[in-house]
Amino acid sequence: MIASGNRGDAIGGRARRVTILGSTGSVGQNTIDLLLRNPDGFEVEALTANRNWARLAEQARALRARFAAIADPAHYLALEQALAGTGIEMAAGPQALVEAAMRPADWVMAGIVGAAGLAPTLAAIRRGVIVALANKEVLVCAGALVMQEVARFGATLLPVDSEHNAIWQCFDHANAENVERIILTASGGPFRERSFEDMRGMTPEQAVAHPNWSMGAKISVDSATMMNKGLELIEAHHLFRLPPERVDIIVHPQSIVHSAVVYRDGSVLAQLGMPDMRTPIAYALAWPDRIETPTKRLDLAQVGRLTFEPPDERRFPALRVAREALIRGGGYPTVLNAANETAVHAFLERRIGFLDIVSTVERTIETMPDGKLESLADVHNFDTEAREVAARLSRASASSRAAAVIGSPS
Ligand SMILES: NC(=O)c1ccc[n+]([C@@H]2O[C@H](COP(=O)([O-])OP(=O)(O)OC[C@H]3O[C@@H](n4cnc5c(N)ncnc54)[C@H](OP(=O)(O)O)[C@@H]3O)[C@@H](O)[C@H]2O)c1
Repeated sequence: MIASGNRGDAIGGRARRVTILGSTGSVGQNTIDLLLRNPDGFEVEALTANRNWARLAEQARALRARFAAIADPAHYLALEQALAGTGIEMAAGPQALVEAAMRPADWVMAGIVGAAGLAPTLAAIRRGVIVALANKEVLVCAGALVMQEVARFGATLLPVDSEHNAIWQCFDHANAENVERIILTASGGPFRERSFEDMRGMTPEQAVAHPNWSMGAKISVDSATMMNKGLELIEAHHLFRLPPERVDIIVHPQSIVHSAVVYRDGSVLAQLGMPDMRTPIAYALAWPDRIETPTKRLDLAQVGRLTFEPPDERRFPALRVAREALIRGGGYPTVLNAANETAVHAFLERRIGFLDIVSTVERTIETMPDGKLESLADVHNFDTEAREVAARLSRASASSRAAAVIGSPS
């Protein structure tokens, strides 16, 4: 169960020792912003990046980290030069991320994007410490196995995704049988009011321009397709042990109500606030205490109106595709995640169109055979094969796009 195992050291005792996996990303930088505002409460064990050695070195120096790991070995030399003379230990390659996760921290932020975060997140879980989970793809691609390891090693998984963090804050964990359903809110993304035809021509720049949240490129595109909410449905299913029919999704364009829990007596408890990731990160960072954040305070009179509408699954089929993958079970959520990562990457590189993202995911799912997901080797196999299929389908979409351009009248 989340938030029921090891509580670590609360603030007020000795400083909490933290590691940030993915420190150079949007979640990582927001976490560091909070650490710098609370210098006495925390000390930094390890930081990791994929390629951004310059930011990693700057962070490691500012926070006096003990260890800095870079996933892409091509940037190790630059990192080594930037940290020369500091005494900070360094390593490179995917195994270096696992090493970072295994170092003695009380609290680990899983802030890497994508399934690349699975191995280091599992390494942290297996240390039985507090793991703050932003990296939702970890639960989408291997949810049941990850939750088994959380229980087996007595780790504590704290949801950082704003919706799941909101539900965690409102959820009566001691009396879960009183929870009837949960409601995940969705902003609707930058294309909420666009027609399906309009979306065909949307560029990466338009897709990453989220109206309320400032986030990394991949999650921003996921918000635009609404695959993000599909991934969050799967994440919520694992975190709160609820079947998909007890997880509602509602579009709430203001992103003020971050999500809600419905109880069997009809009470609905929601968590509200301005859309700023530093609030859910702070809740996980200080848990079971709370710390101050610079987040703008909610002024309901100024906001004036909160609106809600049902999601339109005709314009945003990703929701249906993700729900179906969860219901089919086995390796399908892993396939969904891997195909989506591949297709989003192809879109960001302008090789496929915006609407091709979800159609690639759906066709990959249709192409892949059924199969059980019983081990991490199964996750690896489904993930690898789905990426190959999705890459092939993306190339086919790219060729037909090119043919359409050549064939169109000038
Ligand atoms: N951003 C948000 O507000 C937000 C909100 C809720 C949930 N989340 C979730 O949190 C996770 C992180 O999102 P983000 O927006 O912070 O992403 P981001 O800004 O793209 O940052 C991703 C981080 O992961 C690292 N990384 C990328 N690929 C990697 C790889 N193959 N191996 C190792 N490290 C890799 C990046 O390093 P480099 O900098 O070197 O590329 C960076 O540190 C995602 O799962 C997202 O869905 C984010």
